[in-house]
Amino acid sequence: MSSPSATAPGVRQGDFRFRCIACAQLSEQASQDFRCAQCGDLLEIIYPSWQQERPDAAQLKAAWRDRKLSSSPADQSGVWRFRDLLPRIDSEQDAITLREGNTPLYELPRCARTTGIPRLFGKHQGMNPTGSFKDAGMTVAATFARRAGFRWVACASTGNTSASMAAYAARGGLRSLVLVPEGKISWSKLSQALDYGAVTCQLRTDFDGCLRLLQQLVLRAPVYQLNSINPFRLEGQKTLALELLEQLDWNAPDHIIVPGGNLGNSSAIGKALVEMRDLGLISKLPRLSVIQAEGANALVRTLREAAGKRLVSVAAETRATAIRIGNPASWKKAAHVLEATSGACEQVSEMEIAQAKAEIGAEGIGCEPASAVTLAGLKKLIQQGFVKQDETVVLVLTGNLLKDPDFTIDFHRGDMFKGGAGVSGEVDALRHPPLVLDATLDAVMRTLEQSEKS
Ligand code: F0G
Repeated sequence: MSSPSATAPGVRQGDFRFRCIACAQLSEQASQDFRCAQCGDLLEIIYPSWQQERPDAAQLKAAWRDRKLSSSPADQSGVWRFRDLLPRIDSEQDAITLREGNTPLYELPRCARTTGIPRLFGKHQGMNPTGSFKDAGMTVAATFARRAGFRWVACASTGNTSASMAAYAARGGLRSLVLVPEGKISWSKLSQALDYGAVTCQLRTDFDGCLRLLQQLVLRAPVYQLNSINPFRLEGQKTLALELLEQLDWNAPDHIIVPGGNLGNSSAIGKALVEMRDLGLISKLPRLSVIQAEGANALVRTLREAAGKRLVSVAAETRATAIRIGNPASWKKAAHVLEATSGACEQVSEMEIAQAKAEIGAEGIGCEPASAVTLAGLKKLIQQGFVKQDETVVLVLTGNLLKDPDFTIDFHRGDMFKGGAGVSGEVDALRHPPLVLDATLDAVMRTLEQSEKS
């Protein structure tokens, strides 16, 4: 077993600055709302030392590989293993970690056949400790919350952020405050926040209303905000892309497709891709595309109706509750990474989401509805000729199937699309409703025979 290395040899780990995404003002400190003191726009984290002395790509890759053999908690984390490209912590023991990351990259052979894209993969972030991609960002941001001396952390959420934040706060000895829209998040996600000990407030508003309130709260009370406006979250979420590229032996795929809600994740992945290209870790930039639900399509409309210059917000409605967001905070960052990577932005219907989710389920993997927009969006991008048959495509599956059982059960029972209007034979064939039978061998044998024929 090789010993854990603090940093890759020859690499100065993560001395960082905050930089405003609009006016480029640099600062060493960020205010409680993570907005630029000069112009009020969002901040990002940059590493000035990379300009003076570019980290060596081969040394980084070797250090990341070696750390897989180490038993230190930071090295076993699929996030902190890549700490050379993250903000610096003084000691590995400072990291609040649940051994997040390390998520599988699955081949999707059935979906490959139906879409006609032979090299199709799913990077399953739903296999993280709390069941969503949020853990990769939360381990970093919760660590910096504790380092900054905060006792309370808080977030507004459609469910996954709150589940993740509550878990990392509990592990790190912090108190957590959750603001969620009442009746609009799944019980599974709510139950996680409760179990991990968060003070959980169900507010009579939507996600956007919760986030607005949180941003006022952090300016009045000593709570550290852990929404993806917090740039430490995005630094952690960058590691999804690092790990993915490592799993592909540093051969960049042609396309990475990601769901879009508050647009933090797409921004983080895009930032990672550009940094990897600039550091010589990859030689080609994949195209990063963002898919939204038709009923929560603020970025789609922002790009189509306002050429990405101002946000077109919407009153969001979709059963993919994780992305039921009408006023995405990180829209500018997302628009920027779409431009930088020449990616596309598309929207998909509720029926297309349900179908795609069942198709991913039929792979024996499953995901939550918000994650399934990626497959539904891929089908559209193929039709448009944006994705070609011989290209490699990675779908980012953001959440676990178990996150939203009501959606899955309603679909399979046929309760989702009332009266079955508009349900095609193709969609209907994906349903596997539960059967209620008499407890006799005969009844079960008959069912087996009938199922064999169908
Ligand atoms: N997929 C899932 C499963 C999510 O939970 C979210 C966001 C997204 C996709 C969209 O990611 O916001 O970075 O564009 N969930 C947040 C939450 C908003 O509060 O859990 P995004």
